[in-house]
Amino acid sequence: MWRDSVSDGLVQIGRRAPAAATPVAASSTPADAETSPAEGARVYVETYGCQMNVADSDLLLGILGEAGYRRTDRADEAELLVLNTCAIREKAEERVLARASELAALKRRRPGVVLAVVGCMAEHLKAKVAERAPLVDVVAGPDSYRRFAGIVGARRSGGAGAAPAVVDVKLDRAEVYEGLSGEAGGDGVSGFVTIQRGCDKFCTFCVVPYTRGRERAVAPREVLRQVRAHADAGYREVVLLGQTVNSYRHEEAGFADLLRAVARVDGIERVRFTSPYPVDFTERVIDVVADEPKVCNYVHLPVQSGSDRVLERMRRGYTSGEFRALVARLRERVPGIALSTDILSGFSGEDEDDHAATLALMRELRFDFCFMFSYSEREMTYASRRIPDDVTPEVKKRRLREIVALQETISAEVNAAHVGRRERVLIHSRSKRSADELLGRTDGFKAVILPRGDTRPGDLVDVVIERANLATLFGRVAA
Ligand code: 5AD
Repeated sequence: MWRDSVSDGLVQIGRRAPAAATPVAASSTPADAETSPAEGARVYVETYGCQMNVADSDLLLGILGEAGYRRTDRADEAELLVLNTCAIREKAEERVLARASELAALKRRRPGVVLAVVGCMAEHLKAKVAERAPLVDVVAGPDSYRRFAGIVGARRSGGAGAAPAVVDVKLDRAEVYEGLSGEAGGDGVSGFVTIQRGCDKFCTFCVVPYTRGRERAVAPREVLRQVRAHADAGYREVVLLGQTVNSYRHEEAGFADLLRAVARVDGIERVRFTSPYPVDFTERVIDVVADEPKVCNYVHLPVQSGSDRVLERMRRGYTSGEFRALVARLRERVPGIALSTDILSGFSGEDEDDHAATLALMRELRFDFCFMFSYSEREMTYASRRIPDDVTPEVKKRRLREIVALQETISAEVNAAHVGRRERVLIHSRSKRSADELLGRTDGFKAVILPRGDTRPGDLVDVVIERANLATLFGRVAA
């Protein structure tokens, strides 16, 4: 999984393999469809970037479903093409611009097709998206989705192609899309529930506060409504999403309260959350992870760097010592807890000592796995204005290579230690490689491949691990 992140810093999330055209929302009534200008129109969505984008694509598909669109997984038969994008690193944006040009070829063949770029890159580049990809019709930011069907509808009836692109990138401090039912997403076993949008941390390297706007919380009753809806639809796991998910606060309720309430929803067997911010990882949250059996013993805790000087320049708000103390506390309170992290290598001013400090921290803390990135300067951020990007591309590449090599060794060793153990595994889907194999996950979020036998997606089974590589465990259902 993290290999994708290493290769280009951008993961295109594969969508569930559906029939060619499926209704996108169960709640779209025939009456809506009859009066809707979009009746019968098909929408194709490609999602780039983080889990929140995956959840946003489902939200958008729900909104478009209400407007009469049907989803298709074939770009060449769609009337509406949507790229839901990421702006976190430059490569992410380059790849989307290249993809937009490819899709524009379909527009030339089928006049009237609308091409939309939505999400973080739309917010980041605004009208510049249309300058760099001239055949884009609509540019819409992450807070514009309620208006999206209307914008696209106007564009379709006004004749796509000729007019300048419609750009709607207004951020809205209150928008949390309450009450909207997105298309059922995920793999049908594990689903995302967005509990918070935006970010208030303003780390100096990071564009997210500018692309997703300020932090806001979804009300607990709405979160619980969505979690129950997942349980009713047969999901066994929910993943609570937020840019700094544990900073969650809605009136009197903090993250610990919400997490506990979610863990007590009948029908849901596992609860995960991502990504927490180290500074906001309170003792109360640790208590909930430790005592609630359905809250998984796995935490993704982005450290970014092992050097205090670099952490300070990044304005992360903690020292490497404070981060180590948090990891020690988690391991003490939740024995066997699995931990993963993000490392951002080559940030402005990082020298060889700083880099060595990162490697030392990785060796010491031995994360189960890790997402590793080279610094990419992003317009709008504090660093782009004030802290020169002075580490050369060659040095960045070499440091990232060293970080990846170290983590490969650690992950292989950590995974090898699971061989012979019995693990509780939630089966998520068939394995991509073979119809006779299934893919599941341990409580600690490790991927497990096992023979199909009588086991089905959604089952929770005990699996004996027989072998492992650095990314995957292999086993069979315990007798
Ligand atoms: N360049 C490279 N990586 C970045 N990240 C965030 N901003 C940047 C950037 N400008 C990484 C961080 C973050 C993860 C989601 O992406 O490691 O935790």
